[in-house]
Amino acid sequence: MQNERKTLLTGIKPTGTPHVGNFLGAIQPAIERVHDYDQSFLFIADYHALNSVQDGPRLRHLTLSIAATWLACGLDPSKTTLYRQSSIPEVFELETVLNTVTPKGWMNKAHAYKASVDTNEAAGRDRDDGVNMGLFTYPILMAADILLYSADVVPVGKDQQQHVEIARDIAGRFNHTFGADVLTLPEAFIQEEVESVPGVDGRKMSKSYNNVIPLFATTEEWKKVINSIPTDSSAVEEPKDLSNCVIFDIFKSLAPADKTADLKARLEAGGTGWGQVKAELLEVLETQFGQYRDQYNDLMARPEEIQRILTEGAEKAKVVARQKLDEVRTAIGA
Ligand code: TRP
Repeated sequence: MQNERKTLLTGIKPTGTPHVGNFLGAIQPAIERVHDYDQSFLFIADYHALNSVQDGPRLRHLTLSIAATWLACGLDPSKTTLYRQSSIPEVFELETVLNTVTPKGWMNKAHAYKASVDTNEAAGRDRDDGVNMGLFTYPILMAADILLYSADVVPVGKDQQQHVEIARDIAGRFNHTFGADVLTLPEAFIQEEVESVPGVDGRKMSKSYNNVIPLFATTEEWKKVINSIPTDSSAVEEPKDLSNCVIFDIFKSLAPADKTADLKARLEAGGTGWGQVKAELLEVLETQFGQYRDQYNDLMARPEEIQRILTEGAEKAKVVARQKLDEVRTAIGA
């Protein structure tokens, strides 16, 4: 038995800048989980992003920015192999092989494609309007990402669970078709909704609602965002109603429990105004995230350092990928 080691792998699509909800819900838990595995891979899925970001300089910037984000938040590149998906072209060769064992019907049912079809049909347009082949075959590239590195466990958000299941099914079909136990069947690890962070309008914090607190903002930018949080018109001395209070809920999801309990007591007693709460929330952001922000800015000022780390990661990833692809080629007779 040459491989009893458990492997963790996940990919991040470089399409935007992270907010504090991403940090608490995805980045921090993933970085902590790495310690439970013998081997881990984290890559920037730039070819997946290519479906929506079709602008070279922008994709290059977003890729470096995602790498810097994870490094700034504590990812240790000597423990986790960090690389760009596109640095390992073996993945595209594997994708071509996987295409031949993947029924088209599975892609018809994949949710990203299906959502586009549903939207088109509801609007009376051709069902495939605006759909390119990159979107249609998105799950097959994702399967190749996972299977090339023999990942056992793939931490993803709920929206990506179906894709990991498709990867598992494709691996099973490949092994069955070629009568060889070459591809490892992966399992999704679904991040339980870590008490989701409310956005500045009280709904779940999400880029699509435009209600986020950015992770790497300047103090001035954070101040502006905090000032946009609605509060009621009660006077400073009045006791505050916390039953449906957005600013308190945000504070609670970001601050340590003792600070939250202290603020709650003062608000319920009266004598603490919303201006004071806003100042304390800013302080919490500075304490919790200021250090990550500084590290991020420091790295982004040295893109060649980020590039060096990505190149080193790609060299390590390449060895694993090459070996798996050779096994696949042997199995298929290439
Ligand atoms: N599709 C994932 C997303 O949108 C990103 C991704 C690409 C990925 N390849 C992967 C995640 C492989 C896990 C494993 O977030």
